[in-house]
Amino acid sequence: MNIARSFAELRSALEPARSEGRTVGLVPTMGALHDGHLSLVRAARAGADVVVVSIFVNPRQFGPAEDLATYPRNEARDLDLLEDERVDVAFLPSSEEMYPPGSTTSVVVGELGEIFEGAARPGHFAGVATVVTKLFSLVRPDIAWFGQKDAQQLAVIRRMVTDLSLGVDVRACPTVREEGGLALSSRNVYLDDAERRRGASLFAALRAGAHVLESEQNVAAAEKTMRETMAVEGLDVDYAAVVDPDTFKPFEWESAALLLVAGRAGKTRLIDNLLVLPTPDRGSTEA
Ligand code: PAF
Repeated sequence: MNIARSFAELRSALEPARSEGRTVGLVPTMGALHDGHLSLVRAARAGADVVVVSIFVNPRQFGPAEDLATYPRNEARDLDLLEDERVDVAFLPSSEEMYPPGSTTSVVVGELGEIFEGAARPGHFAGVATVVTKLFSLVRPDIAWFGQKDAQQLAVIRRMVTDLSLGVDVRACPTVREEGGLALSSRNVYLDDAERRRGASLFAALRAGAHVLESEQNVAAAEKTMRETMAVEGLDVDYAAVVDPDTFKPFEWESAALLLVAGRAGKTRLIDNLLVLPTPDRGSTEA
């Protein structure tokens, strides 16, 4: 595996692939890799000739009161895992090169970046969109893989790729969960045992909400059920909503439905989602 720590090293690592016209796949990460990331890497290994995984804890997507300084980092372990997955290039740029002194330009996401996670974390999606644009421009991938776990991030990136004609095929991989249902996240290391159990109520809420949406065909009832399921387990609920998966506007029974939940277990903010295909007569199928 080639380890590129600068733009120049990345360029020379990718030079042979480009001259031979091989397809390049990118999995952008912030490191602290878990099985969810590895499922993206495996999809990339199967779907592209050359696989690049970036590891960069992007300061622009953290708010001033968030955990940038303490965000889990374990570079040696991450690189071993990527080597085992037969990744071709690990790209670990420095903050100084990614954001040179005087850097002011960023991507404006619009309304989709200001609701739900964007309302809870102002500026977060501008930071994500900016770093993903930079990674796309540096790596120039044919295909890039992202987790369905961060559904709003996925929608923001898809919108951006269309709006800015970035020419990258964006693909999603299903959320990977612990046995109890808690979605894997690098931030799960912050949870103690009780918080981890409370965290599992997010997935329970999504399943209960999907059942109500199917049986009662009632969005408000589904949202209420999700809130109650999380609150009963002691989770500090932020939102529970049923939305259109592309726009995150209220669900209108014309598309798939995306059920969204967010809450806090202790100091840790947790999010999860479930894509369902409700049909008024046949009930819903998990997509
Ligand atoms: O999902 C993440 O890990 C990050 O938001 C991403 C896409 C790597 C951008 O920093």
